[in-house]
Amino acid sequence: MSSEYTPLLTKVRVAQPRPRYPHAVLRRFCTVALASVLIWFFIAVAASMTFLDDDPHDDPSDGWSWPGCGKRKVDYDQLQRILLDTPTSKHAEEWSRYYTSGPHIAGKNYSQALWTKNKWEEFGIKADIVSYDVYLNYPVDHRLALLEKKKHDDDTSAWKVSYEASLTEDVIEDDPTSSLPDRIPTFHGYSASGNVTGSVVYVNYGTYQDFADLVKANVTLKDKVAIARYGGIFRGLKVKRAQELGMVGVVLYTDPGDDGDVTEEKGEKVYPDGPARQPSSVQRGSTQFLSFAPGDPTTPGYPSKPDAPRQPVDTAIPSIPSIPISYKDALPILKALNGHGPKADDFNQYWTRNMGLGYKGVHYNIGPTPDHVVVNLYNKQDYVTTPLWNVIGVINGTIPDEVIIVGNHRDAWIAGGAGDPNSGSAVMNEMIRSFGEALRQGWKPLRTIVFGSWDGEEYGLIGSTEWVEEYLPWLNHANVAYINIDAGVRGTELRTAAAPLLDHIIHAATAAVPSPNQTIPGQTVHDLWDKRIKTMGSGSDFTAFQDFAGVPSIDIGFNSGPGAAVYHYHSNYDSFHWMEKYGDPGFVYHRTMAQVLGLITAQLADLPIISFRAADYARALDRYVKQVEDKLDAALAPPSASTIEASSLIDDDTYFELRGSTRNTSTATLSSASASSASAETFKTTLRRLHHAVDKLAVPAAQLDKRADELAEELKRDIPWWKWPAKLRLGWQVRKVNTKYKFMERAFLFEEGLDGRPWFKHVVFAPGLWTGYAGAVFPGLVESIDDEDWVNAERWVDIIESRLKNAARRL
Ligand SMILES: *[C@@H]1O[C@H](CO)[C@@H](O)[C@H](O)[C@H]1NC(C)=O
Ligand SMILES: *[C@@H]1O[C@H](CO)[C@@H](O)[C@H](O)[C@H]1NC(C)=O
Ligand SMILES: *[C@@H]1O[C@H](CO)[C@@H](O)[C@H](O)[C@H]1NC(C)=O
Ligand SMILES: *[C@@H]1O[C@H](CO)[C@@H](O)[C@H](O)[C@H]1NC(C)=O
Ligand SMILES: *[C@@H]1O[C@H](CO)[C@@H](O)[C@H](O)[C@H]1NC(C)=O
Ligand SMILES: *[C@@H]1O[C@H](CO)[C@@H](O)[C@H](O)[C@H]1NC(C)=O
Ligand SMILES: [Zn+2]
Repeated sequence: MSSEYTPLLTKVRVAQPRPRYPHAVLRRFCTVALASVLIWFFIAVAASMTFLDDDPHDDPSDGWSWPGCGKRKVDYDQLQRILLDTPTSKHAEEWSRYYTSGPHIAGKNYSQALWTKNKWEEFGIKADIVSYDVYLNYPVDHRLALLEKKKHDDDTSAWKVSYEASLTEDVIEDDPTSSLPDRIPTFHGYSASGNVTGSVVYVNYGTYQDFADLVKANVTLKDKVAIARYGGIFRGLKVKRAQELGMVGVVLYTDPGDDGDVTEEKGEKVYPDGPARQPSSVQRGSTQFLSFAPGDPTTPGYPSKPDAPRQPVDTAIPSIPSIPISYKDALPILKALNGHGPKADDFNQYWTRNMGLGYKGVHYNIGPTPDHVVVNLYNKQDYVTTPLWNVIGVINGTIPDEVIIVGNHRDAWIAGGAGDPNSGSAVMNEMIRSFGEALRQGWKPLRTIVFGSWDGEEYGLIGSTEWVEEYLPWLNHANVAYINIDAGVRGTELRTAAAPLLDHIIHAATAAVPSPNQTIPGQTVHDLWDKRIKTMGSGSDFTAFQDFAGVPSIDIGFNSGPGAAVYHYHSNYDSFHWMEKYGDPGFVYHRTMAQVLGLITAQLADLPIISFRAADYARALDRYVKQVEDKLDAALAPPSASTIEASSLIDDDTYFELRGSTRNTSTATLSSASASSASAETFKTTLRRLHHAVDKLAVPAAQLDKRADELAEELKRDIPWWKWPAKLRLGWQVRKVNTKYKFMERAFLFEEGLDGRPWFKHVVFAPGLWTGYAGAVFPGLVESIDDEDWVNAERWVDIIESRLKNAARRL
């Protein structure tokens, strides 16, 4: 990340006025210049004219006019003002109330798509509905019961139901969303239908390493039903591993131990009376194998048009049934495990994280439960191929082949969704309304801006993925950046992830927006931000842009931090009432996020030089190579007691990255020592080549940034009209720099894709194979190290090195 950012507005205000040229002369010049230039140069010319406005009142870097002919009506400074002044909390609240007033699960609410399109058009932005025919499931029926075989006096025995799970969330009087007659049942997207019965095994978070520990301890998994806590890794991967190990079903529950201090146990009241988790709340969600490929599982890599050929789905979604339950429903099952098998704290330290031992009488035994204590899990899903609807809005810019895209999904697992995703939808609407206001005042954007309201994100990023797959050639040619907002507001703590090219834009935009928290007067969003920018993983709609199309992306939102009210993720209680009472009273953070999002978009779309920092990318790559080296060193070193002790202190990201690794920890250090560690040592030497390649990239990257800064300076200078060749040259140079920036991220795509998951084409960023949400850097290398496959690791060094060299050459 760059520390050299300047708050946008401050920078803009210091611009000095310059002398004016007579308009008649200007017009004549326009005619002559435009008529005499070759078509091939048209864009460069348009751009140069555009940037080099002769009007005295503007700094040319932030003002322009339609090809040089007259004053730019709304310059960059004014645009930013409009984007800051237009959004209101009242509007955001209104949009939130609309979206959360009825169910809008993927493919079921055309009227919300239509409403969104109409609203955008009302705001002055042309919009269309784009549909795809996708494979989805809807819930039909389910059951989860704890059964015990009881001996009768006459020595016969019979199964008795000792607990029948409710599988529903309580109706809460204060929260009208919880009582809607058409509210959506609790279920998993892409879960398999089935009716299975078996003993239960507690599998902790269900990470790859949790299962490895169970295997090592000889806990029988085959034909058993797993009960796993939610958290850390993508839920579909928990089901995937259970399935691979022969388990017949999976029950996922939310453990309040993971809610930190905001629990009933620690004296907090539960929702709606307090900030703690409502015990009947259930996290719905997709069980697609997200880290292998998102999108419609029947059309990997190509759009789900009605006539598209369809592939089998076996490797993309589970074949064993799974069901999400509340903590309330989980308690009897966890208690039935008491006294059976080892206890979690007999296992390693990774099993006692956030455990709250003895909470409500649960001892966290692993099981399995004895043969006479089983659960019956019945899940019936209706699978259909059905249309879903993206809404796509467009503001055409002057430069047709430099496009900025901003997106948010609209679909939710529940009727509410006030946080996920419709806080983002409300924020998007406010931002779009603001851009509409700018257009109304006469603003003409430099780059084209596209807005996407995606459908079907929740099932597997479907709407965005199918759209990217359909428009890939155009995106490849024209898309400069993608900005994602999913759950835009569910608390007050800014959370960001971004491709390194874009890091500095987050700094700039947040520094120009006042925080709703004015405890210290004048503090900005930037002041209260932890300044952490995560690497791009998955779990939202940026995935297809970043990992498949090689478009640098941002993901941003206000999350709930430690100590804040528990957010009921994918539950009926992610409702308007919760948002109004706990998440964002007064919708002030909604307004703030609309301002931040607007400024990010404006900075990318409306400055003559694309706001990228290539040197930041080179620096980040160097860091990532170092991370891989550290990982290799850890693999080569004997496990030390200190790393084990420290595990209780490590943060969530590190914990789940470690637990999502496939490294065989039972082979204390590298297996059959001599042979393989020799190749590991060789590999270590090979890896150094990447440092060299990054160093080679860093030089032209820094030069490009320098060139961009020089051009920005030159654009501020006044070039008299009769020096039109100089203007043309400058325009051409700006064009050249912008083109280099635009294609830089693309250089890291590898057509064959990652090992075993060819859809993922980016060699630097991908979701961790067994984490799903969290980003892995250099996944090809990391996975090879985990597998101790040094031949493949060498192959990945070659692949990455060639991308780095190619990127350096292109710069
Ligand atoms: C679609 O959403 C709107 C607004 O949230 C809601 O009023 C309507 O009932 C929903 N329609 C369906 C078919 O669920
Ligand atoms: C934008 O430009 C394209 C291509 O020139 C055109 O087809 C489209 O109608 C324009 N859209 C708007 C909203 O003006
Ligand atoms: C599930 O299977 C059991 C037998 O294994 C049967 O008794 C029960 O009726 C089945 N449940 C449903 C809903 O079909
Ligand atoms: C697991 O079983 C194997 C073979 O049956 C045995 O060698 C090993 O000691 C057992 N491990 C544990 C932790 O019980
Ligand atoms: C508000 O700002 C103050 C001062 O910077 C800070 O200490 C406090 O944690 C902030 N509160 C919230 C809810 O962000
Ligand atoms: C881990 O390594 C041990 C010893 O080499 C081997 O027996 C075991 O099968 C391996 N486990 C996995 C999951 O690869
Ligand atoms: Zn979401």
